[in-house]
Amino acid sequence: MTFRPALLAAAVAMTLGLAACKQAPTPANTGAAPPPAGETADQFVARVNKEFRSLSAELNSAQWLSSTYINSDSETIAAKTNERWLTQLNGWIEQSRRFDGQQLSPDTARAIKLLKLMTAMPAPRDPVKLAELTRIATRMEGMYGAGSYCTGEGEAKVCRDIGQLSDVLAKSRDYDAQLDAWQGWHSISVPMRKDYTRFVELVNEGAKGMGFADAGEMWRSGYDMSPAELAAETDRLWDQVKPLYEQLHCYARGRLDAEYGKDKGEVAGGMLPAHLMGNLWQQDWGNLWDMLQPYPGAGSLDVNGALNAIAQADLASARARATGGDGSAAQRAFMVERAAALDTAKKMTERAQDFYVSLGMPKLPASYWEKSQFVKPLDRDVVCHASAWDMNMEGDVRTKMCITPTEEELTTIYHELGHIYYDLAYNKQPPLFQNGAHDGFHEAIGDTIVLAMTPSYLHSVGLVGAQQQSDEALINAQMRMALAKVAFLPFGLMIDRWRWGVFDGSIKPDQYNKAWWDLKAKYQGVAPATARGEDFFDPGAKYHVPGNTPYTRYFLSHVLQFQFYKALCDAAGHKGPLYECSFYGNKEAGEKYWAMLSKGASQPWQQTMKELTGGEKMDASAVLEYFAPLQGWLKQQNANQSCGWTAPSA
Ligand code: ASP
Ligand code: SER
Ligand code: ZN
Repeated sequence: MTFRPALLAAAVAMTLGLAACKQAPTPANTGAAPPPAGETADQFVARVNKEFRSLSAELNSAQWLSSTYINSDSETIAAKTNERWLTQLNGWIEQSRRFDGQQLSPDTARAIKLLKLMTAMPAPRDPVKLAELTRIATRMEGMYGAGSYCTGEGEAKVCRDIGQLSDVLAKSRDYDAQLDAWQGWHSISVPMRKDYTRFVELVNEGAKGMGFADAGEMWRSGYDMSPAELAAETDRLWDQVKPLYEQLHCYARGRLDAEYGKDKGEVAGGMLPAHLMGNLWQQDWGNLWDMLQPYPGAGSLDVNGALNAIAQADLASARARATGGDGSAAQRAFMVERAAALDTAKKMTERAQDFYVSLGMPKLPASYWEKSQFVKPLDRDVVCHASAWDMNMEGDVRTKMCITPTEEELTTIYHELGHIYYDLAYNKQPPLFQNGAHDGFHEAIGDTIVLAMTPSYLHSVGLVGAQQQSDEALINAQMRMALAKVAFLPFGLMIDRWRWGVFDGSIKPDQYNKAWWDLKAKYQGVAPATARGEDFFDPGAKYHVPGNTPYTRYFLSHVLQFQFYKALCDAAGHKGPLYECSFYGNKEAGEKYWAMLSKGASQPWQQTMKELTGGEKMDASAVLEYFAPLQGWLKQQNANQSCGWTAPSA
């Protein structure tokens, strides 16, 4: 994700709020300072840009502290700062109504539209409710960050955090151990249910106050098209890629059956068991490589092995460097391991930076290396979920991760740096335009680079061995990418199908969990191995729910990134099949990318898209073009299977 306190994707919505204006909301006391008399619209936008810049720097600092140092004090400060920010935002939105119906310059009109879409957490005007909302939001995120699953009693008590539990799913192939880890993580969200229910009421009230039907409609309004059109776009794109997903699903099921037996490898209706997919949410199946690798040994794609070797070497040199110190031998050894882990994490980040620099982009500023969180601190709880931060809109950029030496984490670093380079490129825009063309663009920048991490690229930077050219190696390489990118698609869609329903009231609180699993079944063909009734709150075990980060952006990104990739490959003069292209080191591609990034949210995304790709529509045909060899192969593999699954009728 990228952390925008608040910044929902930028983009002009349809004319918002007209109806709301007619209802003449009481010129509410929003708590914000009144505007100077006689202010013009242009002056208003200039003032908001200035105030926004300083307020957001303060908000980011408070949020950074509360995410990297979770305790009741940092929570209080973050909630209070957020309260002031949302109050100010409501004030600006209120003040902007003075200009409704006036003839405005295009930039000013766009800035005012974006202002109304700046938060994913629209707040009620009532100051008591607004304060309640920010407290709930901060508390939920803290609960997620501090989430821990404990077993045993007394001396034998062992607690595991998200990293340790994820590790079990990634590496263990013991059905019961995986089930325990999966269920354990899903116990941390049980106490969030009440907070989330109230949260929904409060943001809906806020959204209505801004002229939207509910918070979901507001989320769908940030795409330079109507909310209904956006929803239809997601259906259309899903229809394009669904056949590919269904083939991958069918293949994975066959392999799981082979590993665990049919009675355990699948659940009723031919669905995949949630705890066996190598990932807590079944959104990325890359950790099942041992089981799903089409041709074991064809082409060496063992990035994990290479990262492990780097980690071992860092450990050895940290040990060689170490000279005594305080504490027991065990304590000193531990500190040496910590130092080595930080070295490895920074090396992985430098590897990612190198790709961007190879395109002609700048090196990250010194402050990035000083202020980022690379590894999990020992002495406190933090939100480990990776994020990228633009602290002050002028160069204080940071990432916050708990990096371990795995391929999955390495690609997440490339992803996060995509956000950072977007931030750096649009920092010269006025603050209200400092955002993605839409939020899916923001998520797609780094992932486009990940697509260019071909086997040849990985070999050239020493992360895999020499590559052989063969059909088998190609299918392996395609599978590696598909387990991350294709497996993700239905997940990217279902999260907000759930939240849209929650916000519009079609999913009621007493059905939260049922609706969640109905959607998981419908889109992903995934089901829990044991009953998950309403005493659980499984959506809360996914960061973006308690963190209130809209998720449609990731679905869109997983389509867009293939379009961007293709465009950059064209710019680099690539000939031959799409999947062979890496534009590593290509300055033409880099220039084209940077030009797009620099535009930020200053114009409708369709225009930005056109400048990069030549087209104005999101379209999954590049996904299908890329995966054509794999899709053909999967069809053959699945020829004798009866593919598909039966979801319980919702
Ligand atoms: N970039 C990811 C996301 O956007 C972060 C992660 O999965 O670790 O949420
Ligand atoms: N980073 C997003 C997530 O973790 C999408 O991959 O859900
Ligand atoms: Zn992201």
